[in-house]
Amino acid sequence: MSELYRADFGDTPLTADEIQGLIPSLATQRELNEVEFANVMSGRRWALSPRRLATADVLNVSYLLELHRHMFDATWRWAGKVRTTERTLGVPPHRILPDLGALLGDADYWVKNSSHPPDELALRFHHRLVSIHPFSNGNGRHSRLAADILALRLGRPIFPWGGTSSNDEARRREYLAALRSADGQDYSPLVAFARGTGKNVAAP
Ligand SMILES: Nc1ncnc2c1ncn2[C@@H]1O[C@H](COP(=O)(O)OP(=O)(O)OP(=O)(O)O)[C@@H](O)[C@H]1O
Ligand SMILES: [Mg+2]
Repeated sequence: MSELYRADFGDTPLTADEIQGLIPSLATQRELNEVEFANVMSGRRWALSPRRLATADVLNVSYLLELHRHMFDATWRWAGKVRTTERTLGVPPHRILPDLGALLGDADYWVKNSSHPPDELALRFHHRLVSIHPFSNGNGRHSRLAADILALRLGRPIFPWGGTSSNDEARRREYLAALRSADGQDYSPLVAFARGTGKNVAAP
C-alpha cells in the first residue's frame, strides 16, 4: 500500500495513516489518479452549477470544507476534514483554523473595499489558502477551484491556470515559481500564469 501513493513534483507525500483513509480498494497509482480525477470532476460540477454558485459563500470555512468534501469524498475518508499532522508545506495543524479565519476576514475586506484588481484578489486568496495547506491532500486542486469561484463572484471568468500550455512539466514549474514570487509579495507572475498569459503559453 505504501507504494501506491508516490508524491509528484511539488506534491505533499501522505502519511501511512492517511493512506489507510483510502476508500476504494486500488492496486496502482494510475487507478488512484482515475478515481481522484472522477471525484474532482463531480465536485467541480457540484460547485459550478448555477444554482450552487448563486448561494455559495466561498469566503466561509464551512463552505471551503464542504467543497473539499465534494471533490474527494469517494476517494478519502478524511475528505473535507482539516489535517492533523505536520507537513513541510503549510502551517502547523493547530494554526489551520485560526489562519483560515484570518484569511477569510482579509479576503472579505479586500472584496468590500476593492483592495486589489479582481484577478489579483482571487489569486492572493489562492496563494494564502494553499500556503495554509488545510488538508492532507488536494490542496492545490481545492484552492484553485476556490479561487475560480471567487473570480466568478467578482465578475471574472474562471482561470485557465496556464491551461493553454502544451508542456505539463514546464507549466508546473512556472506555477510553482509563480507561487514563490507570491511568497515575496510579487503577484504578477501568478496572475500571468493563471490567466494563461505566462511564458509557457502554446503558440496558437
Ligand atoms: N513551495 C510552495 N509554496 C506554496 N505552495 C506550494 C509550494 N509547492 C507546492 N505548493 C502548492 O501545493 C499544492 C500541492 O499540494 P497537494 O498535494 O495537497 O495538492 P493537490 O491538489 O494534490 O496537488 P496538485 O496541484 O498536483 O493537483 C500545489 O498545487 C501548489 O499549489
Ligand atoms: Mg497531492
